[in-house]
Amino acid sequence: MTKGWQKSDWRAKPRVQMPDYPDAPALTAVEAQLAKYPPLVFAGEARKLKKQLALAAEGKAFLLQGGDCAESFSEFSADNLRDTFRVMLQMAIVLTYSAKVPVIKVGRMAGQFAKPRSAPTEVIDGVELPSYRGDIVHSFEPTIEARRPDPARMLQAYTQAAASLNLLRAFSTGGFADIHRVHSWTLGFAEHDKAERYRELSNRISDALDFMTAAGVNSETAHTLTTVDFYTSHEALLLEYEEALCRVDSISGQNVAGSGHMIWIGDRTRQVDGAHVEFCRGVLNPIGLKCGPSTSAEDLKVLMAKLNPANEPGRLTLIARFGAGKVHEHLPRLIKTVKEEGANVVWSCDPMHGNTIKSPSGFKTRPFNAVLSEVREFFAIHKDERTIPGGVHVEMTGKDVTECTGGLRAVTDEDLSSRYHTACDPRLNASQSLELAFLVAEELSALREEGRRVAL
Ligand code: PEP
Ligand code: CO
Repeated sequence: MTKGWQKSDWRAKPRVQMPDYPDAPALTAVEAQLAKYPPLVFAGEARKLKKQLALAAEGKAFLLQGGDCAESFSEFSADNLRDTFRVMLQMAIVLTYSAKVPVIKVGRMAGQFAKPRSAPTEVIDGVELPSYRGDIVHSFEPTIEARRPDPARMLQAYTQAAASLNLLRAFSTGGFADIHRVHSWTLGFAEHDKAERYRELSNRISDALDFMTAAGVNSETAHTLTTVDFYTSHEALLLEYEEALCRVDSISGQNVAGSGHMIWIGDRTRQVDGAHVEFCRGVLNPIGLKCGPSTSAEDLKVLMAKLNPANEPGRLTLIARFGAGKVHEHLPRLIKTVKEEGANVVWSCDPMHGNTIKSPSGFKTRPFNAVLSEVREFFAIHKDERTIPGGVHVEMTGKDVTECTGGLRAVTDEDLSSRYHTACDPRLNASQSLELAFLVAEELSALREEGRRVAL
């Protein structure tokens, strides 16, 4: 328990990236309302996730975290949730087979509504407007009026998160997640004429499943083949929302963020004495910390001490997001700090946020090749340092969008305008997400081989 910590202590600290609500009484009323609502997750689930992440820190599990950059009210539908969930399960099968360890599935879902922005304003059709900060804050609609922060939107976000989580829980246990079904969808991808490279791995997974069935391990006899653990996560940015959903766990007496299983601190809000670190340090959930090129060794040291004073395994995941070509410059120095401090962390790779560019056609995009390069660099450095690459963190969707360029079913710059649906950053589409999983799987297999070679 973090002694003396109060869930409102962040209010005395400098805050960045949070809206100024013009109507203070309306904000107070919403906070009071939310504080009466049930939490979305139970502390025992957050603890279980933490235990699984502790295994990822040792290379005995692998973290797959993915979902929208920003969930939106208008794109909220069962179909969208199902498709993202389905692709994450497909990715997880490929990764599990190659890594031979459990894959921890954590959605950027059911709460990923608030966005930090690099600039306070943006110009749309010649009009300068406050930058869009997510549907939980205001509307995407490009008018001054619509961009006014409205606290009532927190209630809508809560409702959407609750309904999303309800459906995800149903999918996880109701038969949708049956490993045979999920693999049969993956086969479709590997049959694509350019996916030759992935066919062998896919066939080997089929063989393994056939063998299990022949041996009598099937969906009827093995509960674990039909159900999955699926967790939720989001950036803990809007602290009024987080505080209102923060609860005391009746079992341990500790504080728990009730808004999602795992929360993270963004690259723009990780000030050591800032409001976001202050809030996150006091809750028992697993915490993610984005580490970008500007993360100094000194700050990382202080942040690790603040966020994980007991050095509890699974508590802290460092999410590296430097950009392709920059990993060599930054990851080794941060790994050195972690080693010096003897800190227990999960190292995860976010190959998205350091690779955003403006395409010639004017869209914000990410070249798929840059995404893949960053993942490869991340693995290569961990191999050199003899440390453990514990997971990946991606912005993705199960839909066939055209937001990132490249991939097997190549999305070109000209294609971007055809299905560019994201409310914020460009996401991998279903095919690109699976392709990434196959490539990460190759890295994980190579790592296992290397481990075996070293052990011999
Ligand atoms: C994000 O994950 O959507 C995000 C804003 O990332 P970062 O804080 O790493 O820029
Ligand atoms: Co993003």
